[in-house]
Amino acid sequence: MNESRAPGAYVHVPFCAHRCTYCSFIALEGRGEEEDFFEGLEREIRSRGTEATGALLDFDTVYFGGGTPSYVDARRLGGVLSSLEEIFGVSSNVEITAEANPDDIDASKLAALRDIGVNRLSVGVQSLVDAELVPLERRHDAAAARRAVTAAVRTFGNVSADLMIGIPGQTLESLLGSVDGLVSCGISHLSVYLLELEKAPRLVSLKKERPELFPDDDEMADLWEAVDDRLTAAGLPRYELSNWARPGFESRHNLKYWQMTPVLGFGVGAHSFDGRIRTANTGMLTEYLRRTRAGESTVATSEKPQEDFLGRKEGLMLGLRLSGGVPSSTFEEIRKSLSPDSIARMNDAFLAGLLEEESDRVRLTRRGVLLSNEVFSLLV
Ligand SMILES: C[S@@+](CC[C@H](N)C(=O)[O-])C[C@H]1O[C@@H](n2cnc3c(N)ncnc32)[C@H](O)[C@@H]1O
Ligand code: SF4
Repeated sequence: MNESRAPGAYVHVPFCAHRCTYCSFIALEGRGEEEDFFEGLEREIRSRGTEATGALLDFDTVYFGGGTPSYVDARRLGGVLSSLEEIFGVSSNVEITAEANPDDIDASKLAALRDIGVNRLSVGVQSLVDAELVPLERRHDAAAARRAVTAAVRTFGNVSADLMIGIPGQTLESLLGSVDGLVSCGISHLSVYLLELEKAPRLVSLKKERPELFPDDDEMADLWEAVDDRLTAAGLPRYELSNWARPGFESRHNLKYWQMTPVLGFGVGAHSFDGRIRTANTGMLTEYLRRTRAGESTVATSEKPQEDFLGRKEGLMLGLRLSGGVPSSTFEEIRKSLSPDSIARMNDAFLAGLLEEESDRVRLTRRGVLLSNEVFSLLV
């Protein structure tokens, strides 16, 4: 798995054709403010570039997330890449990912994204069952999603897709059908998220009316395990709590978050970690535009720099998300520092089979993954 310490860049594109019922990402409907936003982005990149030194130069990953980057004109993303290259530098083997909605993917969009330098596409599919896409208010049907993913694989080779577990009406068979369908389209990476209803007020009312449509926690765990088995058998083992990939196709960009490598985030609501301090840009487009025009910082919140030990503790929690786990020595150093009560509960976590040690590494077992929040709470 990639262990690059080179920094990455995240660029948040806050526009979507339509807001899906479940989504809590920063995204506005329509492209009315696209031009203003990209002008603001250009100003932000230039002004932050003047402060960047050493470890924050020469990105080896760039990730266009959203919102829906495929919804805007690809030339705008090309302009951002040129600015990043000019101001920060971009390494010759850079991984450049764009998130895409199946709705936007046609031959000309794929060619345009490839021509500006994108070499990895991440397609939001959610489900390959028409009846499951309806309550989500996705604008594409299952057939369109399959066509889009197949065409993306033909163009880029390196294609990821997103699915969700817990969609109203979803069954074990329908979920595995979506997984199999995507594998047969040729994807090399799959992210499978548990649908978070607290971020989906419009689905919460449906759950009140029709609770039988939604799986409970135990059923969600069974669905997740079935996905894990199916993808492992298909040659895409899990490498992180929610991510599976053919070996060598793990997301180099997302690994930076779990390995605590600096990632600078640009655009509305984007988060940054410079190796010491975590910051977040304002999530309001109007405020973002005002600040970039006035030459003010776009940062709205900034966490205190963590003292060394807390930073290592956070690194441990993030490292445990990876299926390779963390070195036993790192784990032991943090464990020793916990309260006697937490040490006892951590020992219980080993005995209960949530954590295991093998070849000088400590990792979550499969049961531990399902109860990862309980394990992580011992480390807070
Ligand atoms: C920015 S979107 C992906 C690109 C594009 N906007 C699209 O939807 O096709 C990122 C992914 O987050 C996941 N997601 C969004 N809201 C979620 C929620 N409430 N719970 C779980 N996953 C969610 C979806 O799988 C979605 O594809
Ligand atoms: S899931 Fe994707 S397309 Fe839907 S609102 Fe969220 S960011 Fe936009």
